[in-house]
Amino acid sequence: MKAAVYPGSFDPVTYGHLDIIRRAAEIFDELTVSVLNNKIKTPLFSVEERVKMLEEATRDLPNVRIDSFSGLLIDYARKQDIHVAIRGLRAITDFEYELQIAQTNRKFSDGELDTMFLTTSLEYAYLSSSTVKEIASFNGDISQCVPEFVAKSIYAKYGYDR
Ligand code: PNS
Repeated sequence: MKAAVYPGSFDPVTYGHLDIIRRAAEIFDELTVSVLNNKIKTPLFSVEERVKMLEEATRDLPNVRIDSFSGLLIDYARKQDIHVAIRGLRAITDFEYELQIAQTNRKFSDGELDTMFLTTSLEYAYLSSSTVKEIASFNGDISQCVPEFVAKSIYAKYGYDR
């Protein structure tokens, strides 16, 4: 069975992430989408909230499971017996950072964890969780960026009822 992990902050999940999830789920038998519990960043949503949103957004994908992790991705992947990490590439600006992480993970896992990049579909190439949050924080329209139930949760965090 071919398994992969798609790690990320997912704070919150966007249509860009969901595009990558759908496409990776077609390539692999099982895809684990895992939310990083990062003590350094201050997220808008708790890990539990992010996991719940991902579960809701991927309900129609039977081979996708949602999990969370803390610490190093290589340690998590080893415990799960997963040897491929999925990452989305939106633009050349993502590339250098992603290349460095992919090479670090490969090196420090003794070749056990490789990274596979999927290029984000053009219609979502501009999207990031950060810009979605910024637009929502000013009560702007984010309906093209995230599913409706996610948008509602983001607006609620900023005190808007819409
Ligand atoms: O959605 P993000 O914030 O771009 O995801 C980054 C993520 C979670 C893939 C990356 O920060 C990560 O894997 N963090 C766990 C710690 C780790 O293994 N770092 C890589 C070696 S420097």
